[in-house]
Amino acid sequence: MDDITREFLSTFQRFMSEVVNQAAVESSDLTPLGVIVQDFLGADIATLPAITHGLPAHRLVDADLALAELGRDSEQPPVGVSGGQQREHLALSELLFSPHSRFSPSPIDYLSIADGPETTRRVIAFGLHRILFEGRPVVVLERAAQPQFGRVGAQLEILSLDTETSSRFLDEFSRLVLSLSVLRGKVLSFTGNEYGNSSAGATFLHRPTVEADDVVLPPGVLETVVRHVVGIGEQRERLLAAGQHLKRGVLLYGPPGTGKTLTVRHLLSRTSGTTAVLLTGSSIQFITQAAELARAMQPAIVVLEDVDLVASERGMHGPQPLLFAVLDALDGLDGDADVTFILTTNRVQVLERALAERPGRVDLAVEIPLPDVGSRRRLFRHYASGLPFSPRAIDAAADRAVETTGSFAKELVRRAVLSAAEQDRVVTDEDLSTALDELLDAGAQLARNLLGGGATLEQDGHSHGSWGAYTPLTSS
Ligand SMILES: Nc1ncnc2c1ncn2[C@@H]1O[C@H](COP(=O)(O)OP(=O)(O)OP(=O)(O)O)[C@@H](O)[C@H]1O
Ligand SMILES: [Mg+2]
Repeated sequence: MDDITREFLSTFQRFMSEVVNQAAVESSDLTPLGVIVQDFLGADIATLPAITHGLPAHRLVDADLALAELGRDSEQPPVGVSGGQQREHLALSELLFSPHSRFSPSPIDYLSIADGPETTRRVIAFGLHRILFEGRPVVVLERAAQPQFGRVGAQLEILSLDTETSSRFLDEFSRLVLSLSVLRGKVLSFTGNEYGNSSAGATFLHRPTVEADDVVLPPGVLETVVRHVVGIGEQRERLLAAGQHLKRGVLLYGPPGTGKTLTVRHLLSRTSGTTAVLLTGSSIQFITQAAELARAMQPAIVVLEDVDLVASERGMHGPQPLLFAVLDALDGLDGDADVTFILTTNRVQVLERALAERPGRVDLAVEIPLPDVGSRRRLFRHYASGLPFSPRAIDAAADRAVETTGSFAKELVRRAVLSAAEQDRVVTDEDLSTALDELLDAGAQLARNLLGGGATLEQDGHSHGSWGAYTPLTSS
């Protein structure tokens, strides 16, 4: 190395160390927010590590409740942070130290999030908590998801005097999030969008009320399903004591319109207090989150409606069909988890290979068949009850309506009543018979298919799920 180079190097080193020192001085510029945090923690906050904790967007209400509980006795109420959109891009440390921006305490930003089918709760969207936890100061920055700024989940940043305190704080926080959760015992659907009375993707639904008498199935079928889903839960303690597993997977299969969804709705009405997550069609992609939630909230039910629709769809994280992700989620839960998975399909053939390749996930498969003549009579009587039809006319209609379903019976009665109403008179046996003629007419084949039944719309001989008389799970 010659002198000139040596000279240059030493100048350069001096220059670099000045740059570094300058940066250190600048980064120690506490913002007004930094001042109150430093006051509260009572230590030089430049040296304290912050822990970041992410949460799914729909758990912010729970997180907010847990933080409110943790800060219940705190003398310092939560504060907001000034700084508009800029703060959205910055970590807590950057809000506390900044030579350029004067981030200051300000009024809190709130957000209204659903906490029930018809209720909402005001939660902190961006705010700083100062909490005394086990006698030690802990500072928490609470932020809602901000997808437009790239933050898809909610987030907490925790600052305390040592990581030990922070992690014990997080443990207690997680415990409270679970025990205070507004999702517990509710019926939810995951939509991935924020419409409806939705908690950022999780929408609260009313629990259906469907009596056993409203579900007309061959003798013993409903009882078998209820026993597996409800009965096992009721005997939870005894089964566990005897070393038996609680987790169960139920497959309901059969032609469109035969009452699979209706059966599920009955199960939901029998299990108040049980958390239920309903996934249909494309929302089945949220199976992993749903299974996680179910495990945390058990007893829980996860319903996967029309699961054949995802049989060939690729998974989120690789080439495996989504259906395998569903079956793996079932497998991923501990056996002693009080969680029921209910799968429905009207194209069971499509699932067979996947179910065979991943055996043991489904421990009860029940066919919900096309009603035979006996069941059809019961169905027709059920939907005609309270109307002035003669029992003979009802039975005669049921006998004629070969290969039709419950949804057909319901629609038939409606048409008869409608046609009488249009003529401004009481409905008669004649109306029933005429409506049946119309629906059985060859020209009405498509209408009959739409109501579900033995006829097919597809070349391969299976009716397609989306053509079934689909009833949303929680409609009344
Ligand atoms: N077994 C039944 N007992 C009483 N009503 C029924 C029955 N089956 C169908 N229905 C009536 O038809 C409607 C549609 O039935 P449901 O939605 O349960 O069919 P599904 O089997 O789920 O069909 P898909 O395969 O198309 O989803 C029900 O809400 C109910 O009114
Ligand atoms: Mg259905």
